[in-house]
Amino acid sequence: MLVTLEGLDGSGKSTCVEALRAASSIPDDTVYTREPTHSWYGDAVRRSIANDDADSLAELFLYTADHADHISTVIEPAVSAGTLVVSDRYSDSRYAYQGATLADRFDDAVAFVQDVHQPWTRPPERTIYLDIDSETAAERSGATNKFETVSALEQVRVNYERLLEAEPERFVRIDASQSESTVSREVIETVERLL
Ligand code: TYD
Repeated sequence: MLVTLEGLDGSGKSTCVEALRAASSIPDDTVYTREPTHSWYGDAVRRSIANDDADSLAELFLYTADHADHISTVIEPAVSAGTLVVSDRYSDSRYAYQGATLADRFDDAVAFVQDVHQPWTRPPERTIYLDIDSETAAERSGATNKFETVSALEQVRVNYERLLEAEPERFVRIDASQSESTVSREVIETVERLL
């Protein structure tokens, strides 16, 4: 089974991954992974993130190449072996973030990015959405990259809301403005219920 964690920058995904790793109720052989990955495709993505002038369409395809490699080298082998896989960001990050960065180039950029993925991606069984407002997200993330301004994150948040509305059965929304311990506990309980 594949469970993904999604949310704005600063929503606390990494803290939740640490809490899951430490939880005795979550299987020890769980595979924890992330996008952008640590492969050379992921390195290319990080170079693009650091470049304020990167072409937004080229950037979509870098992220998407990283996703394709992630599925074939990490996700599919682990899921086929019956292992629980938890990914910190996955395809929804593209729908939400590149849906925002490409909004000036396509009438419906979210749908365009989904169409690029649809024929070959592997959708997650569950997606935990850590919900915070864009002001808190920008403040917590320290606005260290081009995506982390309030206005950019607000558009990303609107896109995430659209994804949740379209697939309410896949998403579990957790209020990430609560204390770290409460958010972590709710994430652990959500994964426990799936096991
Ligand atoms: P992330 O690794 O979560 O941030 P950090 O380096 O702080 O741990 O993601 C890096 C940035 O890339 C983040 O601002 C979100 C963005 N992103 C996209 O725009 N599209 C994507 O498909 C993914 C996976 C991330």
